[in-house]
Parts: sequence; structure tokens; C-alpha cells
Amino acid sequence: MKLSLGLFLAALTPMLAAENLPSAPRKAGGDVPAPVRAFKAVEPYEQVKRMGRGVNILGYDPIWRDFDRARFKEHHFRIIHQGGFQTVRVNLQAFNHMDAQNRLEPAWLRTLDWVVQSALTNGLTVILDEHDFNRIGKDAPGCTPKLLAFWEQVAERYSHAPADVLFEILNEPNGQLTGPLWNSLLKEALAIIRQTNPTRNVVIGPASWNSITTLPSLELPANDRHIIVTVHYYLPMEFTHQGARWSEKTAMLSGITWGSDAEKRRLEQDFAGVQQWSKAHERPILLGEFGAYDKGEMPSRVRYTACVARAAESFGWAWTYWQFDSDFIVFDMGKNDWVQPIWKALVP
Ligand code: BGC
Repeated sequence: MKLSLGLFLAALTPMLAAENLPSAPRKAGGDVPAPVRAFKAVEPYEQVKRMGRGVNILGYDPIWRDFDRARFKEHHFRIIHQGGFQTVRVNLQAFNHMDAQNRLEPAWLRTLDWVVQSALTNGLTVILDEHDFNRIGKDAPGCTPKLLAFWEQVAERYSHAPADVLFEILNEPNGQLTGPLWNSLLKEALAIIRQTNPTRNVVIGPASWNSITTLPSLELPANDRHIIVTVHYYLPMEFTHQGARWSEKTAMLSGITWGSDAEKRRLEQDFAGVQQWSKAHERPILLGEFGAYDKGEMPSRVRYTACVARAAESFGWAWTYWQFDSDFIVFDMGKNDWVQPIWKALVP
């Protein structure tokens, strides 16, 4: 791995001097780099305001197997920041990088350190999202110890990181992880996180793929106010997932457009329902994923993307678009440029 911690810290010296930094503990993956700023608790509504606009990154990048084969490089953090985004949601499929005792690989942890540090130095909020939702949905008993072990290690590792680092317990609980099971597992994972991070904001969404319709069944510990609630929005699936091979019901569809008055009204009503829940429970909202797959026609995708982003903003939610690279792309790695229509729809 090419990261030189010395060089990195030298670049940070002005920032480091400005704050009284806690000493970083030694960890399995080697020394945890000293944090950019010390941790200071932030109210979740204030945090959501700061998070503003964001984008999902790194979920399907070879970087996690081999740092030197990364598609996503250091300068992409700068591009994202300069492109008008304030947040990155980092999609972590960590279960494949654990040993028989569920200890995370040191090399994988070093890559994660690099991601966190690079995002922070580029002025971005970082959400660490555990993204093994497919595996845990198919084998909840087998994967539960992995999820808990992940949070024990990752929460401790970043317990000294500034408040701009957030934890998201699990992306899109589904399948075997039914509502009741998820409600109990999220509390267990949160309790582990709270041992080392008593006031860091943690992102949690409802069962059934973080769907807006299951929000009413989400149970959170009432006395823990450092929680941001997340939902994902891909409705109507026939439009957003047309031609997407992993989406059985819509894989064969094509030519579906979006943007009628009725469709826009449905979006507004859906979001108004989420906002009502948010107000009643006094929990701020992160729209953690939304977008329309690359196979749909561009004018409809642009309309959809802009309408969803503006609707979320009108309610004061933070959002993170799905996603930077891979599919649903807002950045074209081959051309080394934004996919202009999608980017402009997101950041007008
Ligand atoms: C999954 C992706 C998928 C996207 C939209 C994400 O949560 O990780 O694989 O492309 O949802 O379906």
C-alpha cells in the first residue's frame, strides 16, 4: 500500500496543531492514524444539515482486495468535494475479509484507514456502511456474529475519529432478517458501538430493504438521541430498475419513462409520509440511496434524480446518491469526468 503516514500527517500539521488530539491506540491493522480533529459530539439534526448532499462510494471497487488495483484514487475525494458534495457513504463488504475468529484483515483495515483519512482531509463527512445485506439476509444466524464482531472492531478503531465519521449498522436488512429480528439485532449492535462511542451519531434504517413502508415498524432505543434514521427510495422499481439483472421482477423491462404529474405526486406523498414519521419520532432523516439504473432513458433519469434530490432537500434531509462508480454512475471513470446530466440533476 502506497500510503505514507508521515507525509500524510505532515500535510495535516496545521489542522493537527489547532486541536488537542487524543492519543491513538494500537490496533490489529497497525497504528490507527491520528485523527484530523478530536471527537466532539454533534446533535443529529445539526449533523444531517452538515451532511447535505453525498454519494455512495467504493462498494464494488477492487481496492478492498488489492490497494494497488483501486479504481477509486485519492484525487476522487477532491473531485467529489469540488463537485458540490459534502458526504461519502462508504459501502463495506467486510465479511469476506475476516478470519475464522471474525477478526478483520489488517490490510483491509489499513485501506479503511486510508479511506477515512482521505475523506476527512477533503472536507467530507464519512458514513461507514456495513453492506453485507445479501449474505445476512440469506443466513442471519451465521452472519450475526460477524456483524457484531465488525462493529466491535470498527467502532473501537474509530472511537477517536471526529464526529464527521458516522457508523451505519447495516444496509438494507432483508430476508431472514425480519422486522422483529432486526429490531433486536440493531439494539445489540448499537450497544456494542456505545461501549466505545457513547455519543457518535449512528445511522439505522428499517427492515425490508430500508423501505419507507416499513419505517413504522422500526424500534429504536428511546433514550438514545444520537441516531439518524435512513431510508432508501427506488420507487417505482419498474422505472428505476428496468433492465437490472439482479432485480427479478424488472430485469426484462425497458423503455419505461418517468415524470408525469401523478408520478411526481406519488413521490411527494411518499416523502411527506416519511417526514411525518420523522417529526413524530424526532429523528432526522438520511436518504441513503436513490437513483435510476443506467439502462433507462436519460431525460427520465435526470427528471427522477432531480425530483428526488429536491424533495429530500425540501424536508431538510441529507441524501447520498447511489452511486459514484460501477452502476447508476454519476462519475465516468473511463472519461475521467462527471456524467454531466446526472451530476447536474444532483447538484444544480
Ligand atoms: C446494492 C447494489 C444495487 C443497489 C440498487 C444497493 O444497496 O448494494 O448492488 O445496485 O442497491 O439496487
